[in-house]
Amino acid sequence: MAALVLFGGGGDLAMRMLLPSLYFLDHDGLLPDDLKIIGAARSEESAAEYIAKVRETCEAKAKADNVWDEAVWKRMEARLDYLAVDATSAESLKPLKDKVGQGSVTSFLAVSPSLYAKIVTAMRAAGLAEVDDRVVLEKPVGRDLKTFLEIDDAVADAFSENQVFRIDHYLGKETVQNLIALRFGNTVFEPLWNAQNIDHVQITVGETVGVGDRWPYYDEYGALRDMLQNHMLQLLCLVAMEPPSDLDPESVRNEKVKVLRSLRPITHDEAERVTVRGQYVGGLVDGKLVKGYDEERGQDSDTETFVAIRADIDNWRWAGVPFFMRTGKRLPEKRTEIVIQFKPLPHSIFDYEDGEPQANKMIIELQPEEDISLTVMNKKAGLDSRMQLQPIKMSLSWGFRDKHDTPPRRRIAYERLLLDALKGDSTLFVRRDEAEQAWKWVDEVSEAWVDGDVKPQEYVAGTWGPDGSDMLMARTGRDWNTTD
Ligand code: BG6
Repeated sequence: MAALVLFGGGGDLAMRMLLPSLYFLDHDGLLPDDLKIIGAARSEESAAEYIAKVRETCEAKAKADNVWDEAVWKRMEARLDYLAVDATSAESLKPLKDKVGQGSVTSFLAVSPSLYAKIVTAMRAAGLAEVDDRVVLEKPVGRDLKTFLEIDDAVADAFSENQVFRIDHYLGKETVQNLIALRFGNTVFEPLWNAQNIDHVQITVGETVGVGDRWPYYDEYGALRDMLQNHMLQLLCLVAMEPPSDLDPESVRNEKVKVLRSLRPITHDEAERVTVRGQYVGGLVDGKLVKGYDEERGQDSDTETFVAIRADIDNWRWAGVPFFMRTGKRLPEKRTEIVIQFKPLPHSIFDYEDGEPQANKMIIELQPEEDISLTVMNKKAGLDSRMQLQPIKMSLSWGFRDKHDTPPRRRIAYERLLLDALKGDSTLFVRRDEAEQAWKWVDEVSEAWVDGDVKPQEYVAGTWGPDGSDMLMARTGRDWNTTD
C-alpha cells in the first residue's frame, strides 16, 4: 500500500487545490489502486467529519467542471482517512506511521514554511522518512537565502535530494509545459530564439485579487518573494534555457540552474533604475470599490504588492536582451503571459494599416486562456495599388477549433504535480541549487531596497501598477504589451 499524507490537510491549499486535484486524478483513473490519502492536521475532528468537508469541496469543483460522479467519490472516500496530529512532535506522529503501514509514504507539507524544519525532523524520528518515502514542499521555502538554507539543511538531514519535491505550481500549468514542447519539439523557433532576433521578453502575472485575509503571511513576503523568486523566475528559465539533452529531471534542471547563475546581479546603485515596488490603494476593480492594502492590513506597511524588474542574462544567447517581469495584486486583469518580442524589420517597403510596421511577437498565454500565438504581418485583402499590411494573430488553439473538438478540461496545476510526485518524477520540481540561486538573486534586490530605503510607490487598485512600471519600459524605448 502507498500513502499520501497531507499535512495541513484541512487548510486552504489542501481543500481548495490538493483534494479536488486528487478527485480529478481518481476520476481519470490515474491514482494507484491501493493509494491511501490521509489528512493530518491539528484540529481534533473525526475522520467522518473531515471526509464530509472533503466531499463538499470536491463536489463543488467537480460539478463546476461537469465531472462529479458518485461512483468515483465512493472510491475516493474509501481511500481517505484523517488523524489529528502535532506534526512537529515525533511522538504525535507515531500513530500516523502505524496508519500508513509498510508501503512508501509521500508527505505533502501544506503548512506554514516556518514549520518545515521541525516537521521533517519529527518525521525522520517517527520513521516517515525511509528510503522509499518522499516529501513535497510548498513554496516559499524560506524568505531569503539564509532561511532557505536553514530549512533545506533540516530537510537534507531527513531526506536525500531525490526524495524532495519542491513545488512551484506554475510548472504544472499546461501552457508552461507546452512552451517546452514548442521550443524543443519544433525546428522553426529555436534558430530565432536568441539575441540576434529577439528584442526583449516580457513576463506579466497580473491578478485582480487583493491580499485580503492572507496579510499575516503576505506582509512578511511581498510580491518579490511570493511570486517573483519562484513562479516568474521559473518562467524566465524555461524561456531562456538551452535545449536539454533529454527530459531527464537532472538534464532539465541543469539547464535552468545555468540560466539562474547567468542572471546579472542587480547592484544597489542600479536597483532604483531597474526595479519598481508598488502598493495598491483603494480603487475600482471589476466595477467594485476595493480597499487599499494598508486598510486591509489595518496599519501602514512597506510591503510591496507589485513588483517590476528588468533582468539581464549574461550569456551568449541573451546578451543585450532585457527580460522585463511584472506582477501585482489588484491589477485590472487576471492575466499571465510571456511575450517574446522579435526585432523590428530592418527596412520596410509596405504601407501599414496603422501607419507603422509591427514587429513579430509570440504570446504565451497561461491565464485566462491557455494559448500560444504568433503575430505576423499580413496583406489586407483588396485591390489597392499600394499593398497595405495588417497584424494577424495566429493562434495554436485554432487546432481545437478547426477540428470542432472541445479542448481538454483545464486541469488544476497540482494534478500533474501530485501525480509526478507520487511517481517520483522530479522534472517539474525545483532542485535545491535552483532555489538557492533564485534566492541569491532576489536577496540582492531586497537588500538594495532596504539599503536605499526604496519604498513602494502607490498605485490605484484596478490599474497596471505605479507609473514607475511604465517608466521602466519607456526608459528603454519599449512598452508593456496590452491586450487587444
Ligand atoms: C501563489 C501565491 O503561489 O500563486 C499567491 O502565493 C498567488 O499570492 C498565486 O495569488 C497565483 O497563482 P495562479 O495559479 O492563480 O496564477
